[in-house]
Amino acid sequence: MHDKNKLAFSTRSIHSGYDAMSCEGALNPPIYMTSTFAFDSTAQGGARFAGEEGGHFYSRISNPTQEILEKRMADLEDGEAALACASGMGAITATLWTILSPGDRILVDKTLYGCTFAFMEHGLKKFGVDVCFLDFTDLDAVKSEINSQTKAIYFETPVNPNMRIIDIAAISSLVKQVDSEIKVIVDNTYCTPYLQKPLTLGADLVVHSATKYLGGHGDLIAGVVVGDTDMVTNIRLYGIKDMTGAVIAPMTAFLILRGLKTLELRMERHCSNAQKVADMLDQHEAVERVYFPGLASDPYHALATQQMSGFGGMIALELKGGMEAGIQLLDGLNLIKRAVSLGDAETLCQHPASMTHSAYTPEERAKHGITEGLVRLSIGLEAAEDIIADLNQALMS
Ligand SMILES: Cc1ncc(COP(=O)(O)O)c(C=O)c1O
Repeated sequence: MHDKNKLAFSTRSIHSGYDAMSCEGALNPPIYMTSTFAFDSTAQGGARFAGEEGGHFYSRISNPTQEILEKRMADLEDGEAALACASGMGAITATLWTILSPGDRILVDKTLYGCTFAFMEHGLKKFGVDVCFLDFTDLDAVKSEINSQTKAIYFETPVNPNMRIIDIAAISSLVKQVDSEIKVIVDNTYCTPYLQKPLTLGADLVVHSATKYLGGHGDLIAGVVVGDTDMVTNIRLYGIKDMTGAVIAPMTAFLILRGLKTLELRMERHCSNAQKVADMLDQHEAVERVYFPGLASDPYHALATQQMSGFGGMIALELKGGMEAGIQLLDGLNLIKRAVSLGDAETLCQHPASMTHSAYTPEERAKHGITEGLVRLSIGLEAAEDIIADLNQALMS
């Protein structure tokens, strides 16, 4: 076997975690469509359940196809271990149910994907967790809100939907200085490990909606958690096995493994297309503001350059005519699909206030920094000139 540390990202995204010679030489891993696994003896079954012996015993805990994906994702994120789940929300909720108990405190950035916000605001709070939302670009504010009950810190970067960028290294180091037991959790969905590796910047856990760039083709729902072996094992045995049952299907794990083979190629194209689209929108007379860290004028450009190796494929914008103009833009699109989700081959456009972030009330959106007129674009893999032409014609209409 090659020394994996010597292999480049694209090579590892194709090979890591799978040895074809252990599976009859099959180039692609088998899809183990099985719910349960037979034991040699009663003693062996007991030892597996007790965690005294490795090996699979029931697919709500682990499955060989899932395990290949987990090894690959752990490797790509520079983590010790990974857990693949049924959805991004499955990964997030299983992680937080495992780490938090009633009376604990979690600090959360003020802007989150709508369902993550709903889980924090309506789920965790209901069960007695003290959820404190604040602006994570203000490091002093974060420091001053940490108390002895604080068990976790949670944020996305870039933030969905308004593209704020949070300094992972600065947040992690300030939190660890106060209390090294507090877990720093980063949602890395927008970047993937190709553009950003939170664990190397001091975070403890990375969560993903694998539905997005990791799968990459808009044909599955899945999630991933990456971190050290003890934490990931706890999340598997508590958050997934007992609390959520958010288990990934073997077929879905296979599809993500297939998607990962082209992750680097796809991310490069998403990034270069998005840069061209953002440059065009930035110059367009109908556009009030473009939120894209690849623009030199963006307030987060320097930080993004430091912690990301590319600016990603997501853009947010506001039009001069506000929400009405934004909706008119959406309704005027021909090639670009009006759809939520992101990271697909197709360019997608949506209106966060009425779609992905509709779990917030209008008052909450205002407080959490999500404007009613914001339009979100997930730039796909089509030719940039065709994406730009469609946006241009819709902006004229
Ligand atoms: C940043 C982010 N995190 C998590 C999720 C949830 O993932 P899923 O839809 O796979 O449950 C999403 C979904 O849009 C997202 O955008």
